[in-house]
Amino acid sequence: MKTIDGKQLAANLRAEIAEGVRKLKEEKGVTPGLAVILVGDNPASVSYVTAKEKACVEAGMYSREIRLPGTTSEDELVKLVGDLNSDPAIHGILVQLPVPKHIRDKAVIDAISPEKDVDGFTPVNVGRMLIGEKCFLPCTPHGIIKLIEFAGMDIRGKHAVVIGRSNIVGKPFAALLSRKETNATVTLCHTGTPDISKFTREADIVVVAAGRPNTVTGDMLKPGAVVIDVGVNRIPDATRPKGFRLVGDADFESCSKVAGAITPVPGGVGPMTITMLLWNTLEAARG
Ligand code: GUN
Repeated sequence: MKTIDGKQLAANLRAEIAEGVRKLKEEKGVTPGLAVILVGDNPASVSYVTAKEKACVEAGMYSREIRLPGTTSEDELVKLVGDLNSDPAIHGILVQLPVPKHIRDKAVIDAISPEKDVDGFTPVNVGRMLIGEKCFLPCTPHGIIKLIEFAGMDIRGKHAVVIGRSNIVGKPFAALLSRKETNATVTLCHTGTPDISKFTREADIVVVAAGRPNTVTGDMLKPGAVVIDVGVNRIPDATRPKGFRLVGDADFESCSKVAGAITPVPGGVGPMTITMLLWNTLEAARG
């Protein structure tokens, strides 16, 4: 069994991206700029945006951090996004989700110009992805494809079972995998699926993005399957300095006895999501 080292793959790709940034600065005088907006102080979101900003600066990019109080109105946020759409120093705009309940995700996402939508969340980019046009690919799904390839698996012709139908991971990932380039057969399971194990037992690739620990256990897997764990769950743990530890949606212990390869949490998918964000921001700056 192999643990898929997302940190290592992320480091390799980030070195390439940093080289791309250096060249773009030298040849065109352009520094890729990413605006990261966080509304409120959700602890997980604070930790994600801090990591995104740090990675951005390490790659030689310009990072504009915009942290707003949880009381910010939808109109204020939409207006800010509009200003960033016309700001030439900014090539990518990211609004960390979820936003507070009084703000509609849709209103904010729709406000982002598709040309600066480095998350790949706008309806225009989602539609382009679905029909195979050039677009910003959503970061987590794109990073997962890189991870599976890094684990040494040729995805073409394989059966992938995706668990979870979020707009950020499950749905776009299922769509990406079934495109001609990757050519996988995809089963999308969700909370309406009566017996997920019936499908996972047939799967060469299991991607779990359900937001619930122990959604996948070893007995649900075909021997040798590749397991990609997108979950990030905080479990109270008094022995840890922060009072919690992170676990994924797959039970690592039992899965690692059956799987051929598995991503750890942390250190699997997370670093790759951020890396693909940098990738998209560099692409956006290249124009
Ligand atoms: N919340 C959880 N994942 C993501 C992501 O990839 N992008 C944004 N903007 N918010 C998120």
